[in-house]
Amino acid sequence: MQHKIDLLNTKRAESLLGGGEKRIEDQHKKGKLTARERLHFLMDEGSFNEIGAFVTHRSKDFGMENQQFLGDGVITGYGKINGRLVYVFSQDFTVFGGSLSETHAEKICKVMDLALKNGAPFIGLNDSGGARIQEGVVSLGGYADIFYRNTIASGVIPQISAIMGPCAGGAVYSPAITDFIMMVENTSYMFVTGPNVVKTVTHEEVSSEELGGASVHSSKSGVAHFSCANEIECINQIKKILSYMPGNCEEKTPLLNYSGGNEKRINLNSIIPQNPNQPYDIREVIEEVTDADSFFEVHKNFAENIVVGFARIAGRSIGIVANQPAFLAGVLDINSSTKAARFVRFCDCFNIPLLVFEDVPGFLPGTDQEWHAIITNGAKLLYAFSEATVPRITVITRKAYGGAYDVMNSKHIGADLNFAWPSAEIAVMGAKGATEIIFKKEIQDATNKIEKAAEKEKEYADIFANPYRAAERGFIDEVIIPEETRERLIAGFEMLQNKVVNMPRKKHGNIPL
Ligand code: HXC
Repeated sequence: MQHKIDLLNTKRAESLLGGGEKRIEDQHKKGKLTARERLHFLMDEGSFNEIGAFVTHRSKDFGMENQQFLGDGVITGYGKINGRLVYVFSQDFTVFGGSLSETHAEKICKVMDLALKNGAPFIGLNDSGGARIQEGVVSLGGYADIFYRNTIASGVIPQISAIMGPCAGGAVYSPAITDFIMMVENTSYMFVTGPNVVKTVTHEEVSSEELGGASVHSSKSGVAHFSCANEIECINQIKKILSYMPGNCEEKTPLLNYSGGNEKRINLNSIIPQNPNQPYDIREVIEEVTDADSFFEVHKNFAENIVVGFARIAGRSIGIVANQPAFLAGVLDINSSTKAARFVRFCDCFNIPLLVFEDVPGFLPGTDQEWHAIITNGAKLLYAFSEATVPRITVITRKAYGGAYDVMNSKHIGADLNFAWPSAEIAVMGAKGATEIIFKKEIQDATNKIEKAAEKEKEYADIFANPYRAAERGFIDEVIIPEETRERLIAGFEMLQNKVVNMPRKKHGNIPL
């Protein structure tokens, strides 16, 4: 028996080395960790169980039968992160550049199937040269097998992709279907066609970093939700984001112990500036209202006119969507609408209650927005809120104008509790714009046009630049003093914790894509 155990141990040692010491050294020289080192930092100590360590590829073309590496370029398995079960793959760049062969894909699919059957999050650490070129179409088939499973698992288990090296060609579509993408600065990139093809087709000269690096995708395209300074930061972000989520769509979110205390937040009374056109940072409101240090912002550098992220209120996980008056006055546009819509849908999939802070002057006007379909894209956010069945609370801190009032989790589209601060202004539009339209003739006919316009503007503002018209109708449930916000939210989310909504039977809705 001993010699058989020795043989097994020799094979195990071989599989630990991936593509060999020289290539491991090359990986380190590029400032990258190896696939195994990444797993070591990601998983709770001693919790990782590998599956398929001895799998090898079946390719016989181009002398491939003589180049076999145990594991075939990907480490797959399951284990724990902060005591909770997860399934994971980690691509090994030291084996054929982490490229995806038929068997490499089979290994990933095997753990995806297990994750789905057992209802636990699935995490992919991507570092791959794409389809295994020596294998041709079987590699493409392998990718499609993964894309299909990503889609079937969407909304059932959380899926997170970390990009820690190249991710190019059609390979990008697996991360794109998952819920969150994290990229590592300077060592990772994602694009459908690389710089060489770009140069040939469009004559643009662009580096990999400029075309699809972490900075570009986390700020310009919005493809990535997080840009991380290094791999360790990336791994820590994965651990952190998981802490707000349940294991699957049937579970409730993890509830941390909370002992309570003085829930009044008097600083909130002085956050709104005297001048309604002056900005303030909505993050200050979020920080005051949520449990200390619990706010975890998602998509921070993309569409900064809306802030989204996870937080806790009295130990309970919530998702926050908040207009940001400090950026473009918090206006809704194409990018902010799609950013928020996707986040709302994630929270709704996984039973994470939604809290909305509203201070929005309306939708952004202009040809650029109209020609790029602000209609369709704005409708995504409207649709996402309308179909969300999780507990939903809105706090209007200041402006709630026009269609944006309806869209931002209004009572009319299914919000459960709608609060407004006394500073709220709820109307079709701001007093100036409204006056110019409805009193146009009166102002034109006046001897002193400026005085008349100011008089009419004041008249309109006195009637609508407050929360009381909406409260009279019950569109606002309660006008609250800002300092009371946290206690109202704690009580509100507790009251809503057993909320059940039965939607009409359907196959699935048709969100305006
Ligand atoms: C097989 C590959 C490979 C691949 C890299 N290698 N990519 N082997 N298939 N796709 C191997 C190399 O031969 C080399 O082997 C080792 O990995 C490391 O590669 P290097 O080129 O030395 O590394 P580096 O200089 O860091 O460059 C990395 C790279 C480059 C930028 C990823 O290797 C590259 O451009 N690879 C090809 C990328 C590509 O075009 N992939 C197909 C995309 S299309 P040795 O033995 O020397 O260590 C696609 C379609 C998917 O993926 C569609 C899904 C629907």
